[in-house]
Amino acid sequence: MIGARSRRILITGGNAGLGLALAKKLARRHSLLLSGRKSQNEVAGTLPPGAGYVVADQSDPEKSALALVRGIRDFGWDGLDNAVLNAGIGIAAVDGVDSAEAIRQTLDVNLLAAILQARALFPLLKKSSGTLTLIGSVAHKGSATIPAYAASKAGLHGFARALRSEWKGQVAVQVLHPGPAKTDIHEKAGYDPGRMRALFLAPDDIAAMMASAIASRRSPATLSWVRYLNGGAFTGRRL
Ligand SMILES: NC(=O)c1ccc[n+]([C@@H]2O[C@H](COP(=O)([O-])OP(=O)(O)OC[C@H]3O[C@@H](n4cnc5c(N)ncnc54)[C@H](OP(=O)(O)O)[C@@H]3O)[C@@H](O)[C@H]2O)c1
Repeated sequence: MIGARSRRILITGGNAGLGLALAKKLARRHSLLLSGRKSQNEVAGTLPPGAGYVVADQSDPEKSALALVRGIRDFGWDGLDNAVLNAGIGIAAVDGVDSAEAIRQTLDVNLLAAILQARALFPLLKKSSGTLTLIGSVAHKGSATIPAYAASKAGLHGFARALRSEWKGQVAVQVLHPGPAKTDIHEKAGYDPGRMRALFLAPDDIAAMMASAIASRRSPATLSWVRYLNGGAFTGRRL
């Protein structure tokens, strides 16, 4: 049963990792629509009860934006309180140089898709005076082994700053930069963090910091060990 203060929340990349951890945290209080590249059958059983799911493959950025808008309509929503554009990939560069294909894929999935999705979702967010949340990374400042990934996240950072001013008074915009978390993204990227992985935060802790940063609408916000050690996963505003 959804309570009176429940929100309609879209989370892209909501079938795994940080997106799924956030979805699980919010599922009891809010109405959720999740998206990903995998089919409905592939994700059946992994999503929180009651959450809707829409396939939106971001390797075709334009089609993914249309799929989200269609998915929202089919789910019966005529507005959106929160859009958390979280889906992302990394591809480790071989010898520090990304291939043209890897660069294009990374920028399409992480940056262009998010930009086109933000544009497509604007009318729905505006209707609800909602919040657009872009999930960046601490790597937006630059990171060896994943230069195209770092560029995509720097792009999101700049895009969020521009949009925050452009949409002022209509839709709140924020960018959140998580630090390293124990999800499968590194393995999928072909990058082995080795013993460093022991220092990565748990997805649930990053998700808790994401939730309170979303509730506060602050931007930009870094969600890493420093915030965690200051109690960031346990204090702060409740979403
Ligand atoms: N984990 C970290 O250390 C870390 C640190 C900083 C920032 N981040 C950022 O946090 C976000 C989530 O990362 P994560 O660690 O949770 O990664 P993850 O566990 O690998 O999950 C990635 C999510 O993105 C979706 N996705 C990937 N490619 C897609 C595509 N082409 N179209 C649609 N959806 C696609 C995946 O859906 P499918 O399973 O259907 O492909 C999955 O739901 C990303 O933006 C990432 O850059 C992560």
